[in-house]
Amino acid sequence: MINHEIKIAFEEYSTLAELSKADQNICQEAVKAMENSHSPYSKFRVGAALQLQSGKVIHGSNQENVAYPSGLCAERVALFNWGANHPADPIKTIAITAHTNDFEIIKPVTPCGSCLQVMAEYEKKQDEHLRIILYCIDGPVWVTTGVASFLPFMFFEDRLIAQ
Ligand code: THU
Repeated sequence: MINHEIKIAFEEYSTLAELSKADQNICQEAVKAMENSHSPYSKFRVGAALQLQSGKVIHGSNQENVAYPSGLCAERVALFNWGANHPADPIKTIAITAHTNDFEIIKPVTPCGSCLQVMAEYEKKQDEHLRIILYCIDGPVWVTTGVASFLPFMFFEDRLIAQ
């Protein structure tokens, strides 16, 4: 039997003001993205903003549906928009934030496994790590580089990639 241990690393900042202007800006874009959240069922609003290399910013917000499983997380709305419309313009940073009137959010919202897996796919596709910023409006900000920090066991199989 072998015991394995995996360490993940991320930075924690106590307020947004500690980040660079560029990082603060993309976090504010994630806040703006939340405006179009369609979340009448959970009342949990999530915004994601992608900073692209060209300077372009892409917004995504969670889109729910009365047929609950048909909804989609903010991150994948933004990421699939990128994949469909801007695949040649690398993603530098993704910022994610959330808000609800129902309770206080005091720690960053971490993307679900499916969203991390989608991020991992595009990170491989563009051959460049993403910076991931998890912005808690009333709490700390977590920053990491590379999806593997949050999803060390992402699914990946070279032999399934079309040549
Ligand atoms: N949600 C996101 O959009 N992103 C996350 O990282 C976590 C969860 C959405 C899905 C659903 O609309 C609502 O938040 C409650 O789960």
